[in-house]
Amino acid sequence: MDLTRNDILYILDKAEGMKTFCKEREKEKKERAHRTILQPLKNATLYSIFDEPSTRTEGSFEGAMILLGGEVKNKKLDSSSQAKGESLKETLKVLSSFPSTDIIILRHPSESAIKEVVETSFVPVINAGNGRDEHPTQALGDIFALRTRKGKLDGLEVAIAGDLKNGRTVHSLVYALANFDIKIKLISQEGLGLPPDVEQNIRKINPKIKIEKANSLDAATTSDAVYLLRLQKERLQTDQERSSYEASYPKITKEFLAKAKKDVILMSPGPKHEELPEWTDNLPNSAYWEGIQSCFYIRMALLNLILIKQEDYPS
Ligand code: NCD
Repeated sequence: MDLTRNDILYILDKAEGMKTFCKEREKEKKERAHRTILQPLKNATLYSIFDEPSTRTEGSFEGAMILLGGEVKNKKLDSSSQAKGESLKETLKVLSSFPSTDIIILRHPSESAIKEVVETSFVPVINAGNGRDEHPTQALGDIFALRTRKGKLDGLEVAIAGDLKNGRTVHSLVYALANFDIKIKLISQEGLGLPPDVEQNIRKINPKIKIEKANSLDAATTSDAVYLLRLQKERLQTDQERSSYEASYPKITKEFLAKAKKDVILMSPGPKHEELPEWTDNLPNSAYWEGIQSCFYIRMALLNLILIKQEDYPS
């Protein structure tokens, strides 16, 4: 993710507008008055290509497009000419050459896939997760949820705990957070820390960034937000590796919450596992349901921003 602070704030403000749009729509639905609902993306088509499992990202990109009046098409790569040996680059080039395609959303297990296809696609391609590397739209949704709850971004302390190595959302999240005056606490076991190149990149974005590292959630008792990542079991090699990490994986406990800030918020890109037990779901601290909606508004904002010329883009 290479967005500047101004880009990020601009997108968050547009997402705020989308939140209002959705509220208006709800009101109109209740009043059975659909006639006035705007459809800014009427006649635009999104191609949704998910070559890894997804609930939130796939569903919300598609839902966002539909709410804005657009159309959605899905393509499963195993039923495309990839099965006949065609490269991903070629498949995307074909799909993007249809006069009916306006934008492509791609999730792919390979880290390099997105860069390859962006260069040759005839339409914009949004990264919905590339292997272990990044998931930028999730990170924008996460900081939108954080700003909504805390009313600000500068001055916060954010702890990020769990599998910082294999979880891609965290990589985009730290790049986004580095644009603000935020203290980041990285909490992970030995072997699951943030990849060194990601840390170097954060320091390039913000040489003055405050980063602390710890291996226990106790380090997060001063934090304003704790972002928990599941163990990416499917990206680990052996069962032995999986169970050894599981044994001492950071997770929210009642003891932790008793020591933490009263208004600490708990965040997760989902899916949640043992790190956020079900009993946390209804706590006022849990912000992960709003996080899902925040991502939806961000995706609406991005589709709108990319497909409709904006006169007010910050210079
Ligand atoms: C994440 C993903 O796929 O990267 N989920 C999501 O898109 N919201 C996180 C994960 O799989 O752990």
